[in-house]
Amino acid sequence: MTDLSTRPGPEQSEDADLAFPAGFLWGAATASFQIEGAVDEDGRSPSIWDTFSRVPGAVVDGDTGDVACDHYHRMPQDVALMTELNLASYRFSVAWGRVRPDGGAVDQRGLDFYRRLVDELDDAGIAPWLTLYHWDLPQALEDAGGWTNRDTAYRFAEYAASVHEAIGDRVPVWTTFNEPWCSAFLGYTGGQHAPGRQEGVAGLVAAHHLLLGHGLVVDALRSQGADNELGITLNFTVADPHDPADEADVDAARRIDALHNRVFLDPVLRGAYPVDLLADTAHLPWHGSAWTDVVRDGDLELISTPLDALGVNYYKGDSVSGRAHDAVTGADAAHAERATSTPFVGCEDITFPSRGLPVTDMGWEVQPEGLTRLLVRLAREYDVPPMFVTENGAAYVDVVGPDGSVHDPERIAYVDAHLRAVHAAVEQGADVRGYFCWSLLDNFEWAYGYAKRFGLVHVDYETLERRPKDSARWYAGVAARNGLGSVP
Ligand code: FCB
Repeated sequence: MTDLSTRPGPEQSEDADLAFPAGFLWGAATASFQIEGAVDEDGRSPSIWDTFSRVPGAVVDGDTGDVACDHYHRMPQDVALMTELNLASYRFSVAWGRVRPDGGAVDQRGLDFYRRLVDELDDAGIAPWLTLYHWDLPQALEDAGGWTNRDTAYRFAEYAASVHEAIGDRVPVWTTFNEPWCSAFLGYTGGQHAPGRQEGVAGLVAAHHLLLGHGLVVDALRSQGADNELGITLNFTVADPHDPADEADVDAARRIDALHNRVFLDPVLRGAYPVDLLADTAHLPWHGSAWTDVVRDGDLELISTPLDALGVNYYKGDSVSGRAHDAVTGADAAHAERATSTPFVGCEDITFPSRGLPVTDMGWEVQPEGLTRLLVRLAREYDVPPMFVTENGAAYVDVVGPDGSVHDPERIAYVDAHLRAVHAAVEQGADVRGYFCWSLLDNFEWAYGYAKRFGLVHVDYETLERRPKDSARWYAGVAARNGLGSVP
């Protein structure tokens, strides 16, 4: 297996004006539903995103993942691109519905695709970094209640065991979930993501069952003596009170921090839900009783099984207010097009006022210093395992020039600034060991369909042609010299 610890990591380079620690892991990330396409092939069953993308108005322009980047058929070409980018690691996710269609029996044809992918990565000397779940729940399991049904956590553990049996010895890093916050709260409270349910406290119930699924898998792999590095990827905000002198804003920021960050961090790293979160949500009933009734004896012990890696996804922070404001950004604006309810259950009074920072094509504020504060906070406040930035990147409007080039200076500046922020955190003592750019390719950006481009590599959705953008070449240089050159 292309091992992370034995891999010849880049040395600190003398050419770099800002060098990263020796062995720092440079990668790029994707997710199954966003790139694979081939939705009817080799036994794959529909996922909640296949269903949701067909709900009128759910996805911009009615886009679906039917073809996406056609990665399922073009995988070797995409691995060749990774080599061009000098990637040491590739973060991808496995589609549950290929491995266990409808959540039922194993289909080897689906596993074969990931076997071929891992072979190809191995040949290229690129370490696979696997995510078991990046949001594509088999629709059949959603029909049985989805993540609000405790049984889904056990189905997830079965599915994870099948993937591990097939390729567990070839994948050094094994992560359970990508951004369970989105699955739980955008999926079951706000309804902006599949399955599109707007059921308030259901988001908290789903969050607990996602965490339980994580705990079951990590515990099972540990008890089998698996030698993979085990982890989870969480998405964080940095919730700042809009007016630090206003108590309403300070309290609103605390509540968002609890419902976004600590609702996952604390059970995983401390074995308990935050006391303030429990107090804030005590009045929210699930089927007539307290939502915490879903938390059974022993769950939190499983959930807090020690980890080897924490994946940190960061795009932006939020300015948070307990008062009404006109111009909103961050969490509100990101979903404003279709959102009718906030993903933050019980926080209907909270707003996200604009700070006037520059924004990306997503309307997300560019706030690199937040990433330094986040990483340093995690290092200081938690007994945190080694951290890896598993997603960071930006959507901008890209134009293909007559010669096929794509000049994307804004994306380069965004990634450069965030890498400087990571470096600053390392200097302040945070143990950050790698960075994965989101994303390798332009792809299906969930509710925004193909309208938002995050790729280092441009994808023409008519011809499916791939074209490395300027940022791809720039990033290849960063990975090769293990550091940043002069400011672009
Ligand atoms: C993250 C998701 C990823 C991608 C980026 C832009 O929340 O994990 O799939 O959509 O946002």
